[in-house]
Amino acid sequence: MTTDWKKIRDDFPVTKTHAYFLSAAMSPLPVSVFEALAGEYRKVMLDGDIHYEEDLRKCDALSSDLACLLGTKADNMAFVANTSTAMSLIALAFQDRVPKPFNVVSLEDEFPSSTLGFEHRGIEMRYVRPANARYSPESIIAAADGETLAVVASFVQYATGFRLDLEALGCLLNDRRILFIVNATQGFPYFPIDVEAMNIDALSCSFHKWGLAGHLGAMFYTSEAFRARFPAPSAGWLSVMGEGEDSIHTAKNVPFRLHPTAKQYMPGTYNLQPLLAFRVAVDYMKRIGFENIRRRLFELTDYLIAGLGRLGILIVSPIDRLEERSAIVAFSLGEGNGRCVEALAAKNIHVSLRIGLIRVSLNIFNDEGDIDRLLEAVKNFRSGRS
Ligand SMILES: Cc1ncc(COP(=O)(O)O)c(C=O)c1O
Repeated sequence: MTTDWKKIRDDFPVTKTHAYFLSAAMSPLPVSVFEALAGEYRKVMLDGDIHYEEDLRKCDALSSDLACLLGTKADNMAFVANTSTAMSLIALAFQDRVPKPFNVVSLEDEFPSSTLGFEHRGIEMRYVRPANARYSPESIIAAADGETLAVVASFVQYATGFRLDLEALGCLLNDRRILFIVNATQGFPYFPIDVEAMNIDALSCSFHKWGLAGHLGAMFYTSEAFRARFPAPSAGWLSVMGEGEDSIHTAKNVPFRLHPTAKQYMPGTYNLQPLLAFRVAVDYMKRIGFENIRRRLFELTDYLIAGLGRLGILIVSPIDRLEERSAIVAFSLGEGNGRCVEALAAKNIHVSLRIGLIRVSLNIFNDEGDIDRLLEAVKNFRSGRS
């Protein structure tokens, strides 16, 4: 079956006005997800809290869908506010449970959500430097020693789009009994993850990037073994076992137990309306098919890479191996990258400046015409005709 990408493009009103390459910052919504979100808030407007239980069940169904995509079960899934929160919870749990000295290995280019929570707890962090924007599993392992408790790494690097070989790294870490903590924000759900096959102990993914549903929070996966060793370092009425008729632990100074499932990381109420609209977005992506999406992303990134090559522009993202590529391509003009980003924005062509590079993120609604506009505008900027 061939996909009508033009029809998909038409699902995204953003394409009418902008050449939009900012999905790695936040994806715009397709109309159906916008309508689902409006529908959820309409329910709240008309009926208040009446649908709360039903909405919780629908949210559990979303958890199951996401668990399925990750190769695990819903019991291991939680929703949290963002990746910074997930990583901070892990850092607190490490501090609670593991006597010093220990260290955590991470990557020099990581987005700070992956690392600040650990630094803030005074945990010794060791950062691996990239070689030509790449990190081999072996180079990461080389930074570990007998006191390394965990490796924290992004699936896809936010600035360069480098995609890490999670399976190879997970296997090496498992052999050494080092925990594997993944930030999947820039890769999932377009690029596949199997937490069990990859020996991942905990994983966070913020969905405003590639979730097609706006700011809605993050999913937080933990394995059963991880929770047994590192129970949630915080608690609230929803994360502890209930009691009594309304199944809420209201007693004071009476011992309670955390939920054994990943719900132990969800202490209180959460943003049901955006999550329910996100379910519509997940179904939308599933209908297109993730393999199909990846094929299209590689078609578009190939087109961009070839165009940049014709202009003689330096591509900083590692592009030689398909398995290391993602939907992000970063390039540099040598100087004036920041001014170039501004000049493009003035023409409604939107790219980001990240670690001094021009970052282009391609999505299913982009087409070759968008890329032609971008290339033409970069060419004009470079020749001083912007
Ligand atoms: C790799 C990565 N992780 C996380 C985030 C966002 O972190 P948080 O969800 O904590 O806001 C971003 C971008 O904002 C990112 O690029």
